[in-house]
Amino acid sequence: MGRVPTRFPAQASAEGLTRTERLGMKTRLMAKSKTSQNPLMDAIVGLCKRRGFIFQSSEIYGGYNGFFDFGPLGVELKKNLKDAWWEDMVHRRDDIEGLDSSIIMSPKIWEASGHVGGFSDPMVDCKASKMRYRADQLFYSPVIVDNTTIGYVSVLEDQSMEADAQASAEKLKRKQGAQGELAPLALKEYTEANPSEYELIPSPATGEPGSLTPPRDFNLMFETKVGALSDSTAIAYLRPETAQGIFANYKNVVDTGRVKIPFGIAQIGKAFRNEITPRNFIFRSREFEQMEMEYFISPDADWKAMHREWIDWCKNWLISIGLPESMLGEDVHPQDKLSHYSRGTTDITFQFPFGEQELWGIACRGDFDLSQHQKHSGKSMEIFDESTKSKFIPHVIEPALGVDRLLLAVLSAAFTEDEVGGEKRSLMKFHPRIAPYKVAVLPLLKNKPELVERAREIYRKIQRKHTAFWDASGAIGRRYRRMDEIGTPWCITIDFDTIEKDGTVTLRDRDTTEQRRLSEEELLAFLDDQLF
Ligand code: GAP
Repeated sequence: MGRVPTRFPAQASAEGLTRTERLGMKTRLMAKSKTSQNPLMDAIVGLCKRRGFIFQSSEIYGGYNGFFDFGPLGVELKKNLKDAWWEDMVHRRDDIEGLDSSIIMSPKIWEASGHVGGFSDPMVDCKASKMRYRADQLFYSPVIVDNTTIGYVSVLEDQSMEADAQASAEKLKRKQGAQGELAPLALKEYTEANPSEYELIPSPATGEPGSLTPPRDFNLMFETKVGALSDSTAIAYLRPETAQGIFANYKNVVDTGRVKIPFGIAQIGKAFRNEITPRNFIFRSREFEQMEMEYFISPDADWKAMHREWIDWCKNWLISIGLPESMLGEDVHPQDKLSHYSRGTTDITFQFPFGEQELWGIACRGDFDLSQHQKHSGKSMEIFDESTKSKFIPHVIEPALGVDRLLLAVLSAAFTEDEVGGEKRSLMKFHPRIAPYKVAVLPLLKNKPELVERAREIYRKIQRKHTAFWDASGAIGRRYRRMDEIGTPWCITIDFDTIEKDGTVTLRDRDTTEQRRLSEEELLAFLDDQLF
């Protein structure tokens, strides 16, 4: 929720506060945009491609910016994340119900929610290079030498943007042969430039002034047409958030279920945003999945306490699936800058390889959405609360999490390089609950039928309950390394002791590489105990 100052409605938090102000307060929220300058990010992207986690969409045609495909391991990891969230958010709670609403809904929903009118980012075009930028990610400053403005510099938002701008200013000073003292630069968002400055600010693409357009709003919703007619009445939108499907169905759930205040409705599903600058791999893409929950509370409830409870719940959940607490932070959006319908917003942030960024936004949306839908649809959104015998439109606390962004956080936290027996190894320290494969079953030799047969038997038994991987070829050390790299927590080796002596198998731990022998019963009990 801390993304775009101008964005409506999910950006309740940051409205009225320019990016420059937010950067001034919290430089930690800056992102590094070029993954090629980030070895850790490069290593993660490389591993994702090499081992079949994530591919660029339409790669055979040169790729398609902002879209990604999930390979055999990626789809398992993603599914495990969604299953863990659903189990803990819906199945293991009595106060939350699930929902699966359609991606395309009546355009009236997006008019009522404010998305048609205001779900936009400010963009700026470079007429010379045809490049397009987010105006709130393009920063500029006048270059002042001895109280005289000798020109302007511009930079794209980046961890090194201040140093880059300084270097450009010094270059400009040298180029112009200006003598005297260079005043400190004052970087501001392009959205804050005066119209008279547009012509003077150089394009980041060409380095020359005169080609940037004034900033203008760019609606992020993807349009499509529904039905046989192709006029404006056929226009519909791919949903930019799953939340509105919940608000639109809130009355259905109330009328058909046995919910009583406070209660929540959770949904996992695709969302689409025509991002101007998709970046940082799957961090900001144009097609992504969200896991959102709207928690409906009484207008008289202690919303501050409930907001805090949800922030803590979300944080603890992230820790429970393996994200280290030390990599998590909180970004509390300033009260005086919240829009009229938001009472409070806090983002849980994560230390991504390119900087600390929003992972999970938890907003108190008041009754804004339900009131809007009541007004636009003419249908009552009131609920009758038995306990107080009163009728009201509930208020809402909304924890909204992106699956793909969570997946990137999980990959970043799990990626590890260490040394085993003097050899470098890279491993993914996934929490067992979310690891794509829980166990690999490895017969010591593939050309010994009795070993292979016994290993197959054990493999089949494990497979009934847990995802298991069969690997019979290659030296055992290499097979261990392959499993380490894809984050399989345990390897089980079937050797001659298994078939000739005591029937025990070797269980190898991914993180410590320790090995111990267990009977088949002990092994199955161990796995059941570890994988709940
Ligand atoms: N209903 C509120 C809402 O959609 P948001 O902050 O715009 O709020 C919620 O989005 C979460 O969805 C974010 O915290 C982030 O995890 C994820 N998200 C948003 N835009 C994204 C994008 N373009 N690519 C990947 N994930 C995104």
